[in-house]
Amino acid sequence: MDNANSAASSNRFQRPDGASTVLYPTLKALHLLAVVAWVGGMAFMLFCLRPAAAVLEPPARVTLMHAAMSRFIALVDIAAAVAFVSGAAMVGIAWSASARASLAFNMPLDWYSMIALFFVMLAVFLHVRMVLFARLARAVASQRWAEGAAALGAIRWEVTLNLVVGIFIIVFVKFGGTA
Ligand code: HEM
Repeated sequence: MDNANSAASSNRFQRPDGASTVLYPTLKALHLLAVVAWVGGMAFMLFCLRPAAAVLEPPARVTLMHAAMSRFIALVDIAAAVAFVSGAAMVGIAWSASARASLAFNMPLDWYSMIALFFVMLAVFLHVRMVLFARLARAVASQRWAEGAAALGAIRWEVTLNLVVGIFIIVFVKFGGTA
């Protein structure tokens, strides 16, 4: 490849001001994948796995739900981190683009709402992870199935709350007109 060609191909992913044209869409795709995994996983747990497991006797049902929850919690750890880091990076890129153009950076209302509600979802998730799931794990370890079923009932309501908040964010951001 001659010099002119290699310069042209390396510039393909750069704007004239040197900013990357692929970074923002890549971050947005990662952001969406994280949101799909988190919100979609909650919908699967509530509407598919939980009703299907209801046909099992308490020892098998509580053990199955505990095993599924422990894997889903590990997935949400990653999804929440990716959503936060990719979202913060997009805000940073938008802020620096405004600064380069000497414009004031005014974050849209739907971005503020998304960030605030992310912390609501994170707080609910951390309560499920640290308190309710720990209670479920203790019940499974000591084979106290009624206690495990009660912990699952509490987890169900908090996951429902997070699903509603997650769906609200998605609808609000898409109707907010900036994404
Ligand atoms: C602190 C956490 C978060 C930050 C900083 C953040 C930031 C952002 C930013 C900057 C965008 C790009 C908007 C644009 O290009 O116009 C975006 C898009 C989006 N975010 Fe977030 N976000 C966060 C958490 C979440 C959460 C928890 C959800 C959903 C549960 C969510 C759902 C979305 C959706 C659906 C889009 C639109 C993507 C598209 O289709 O273009 N975000 N976010």
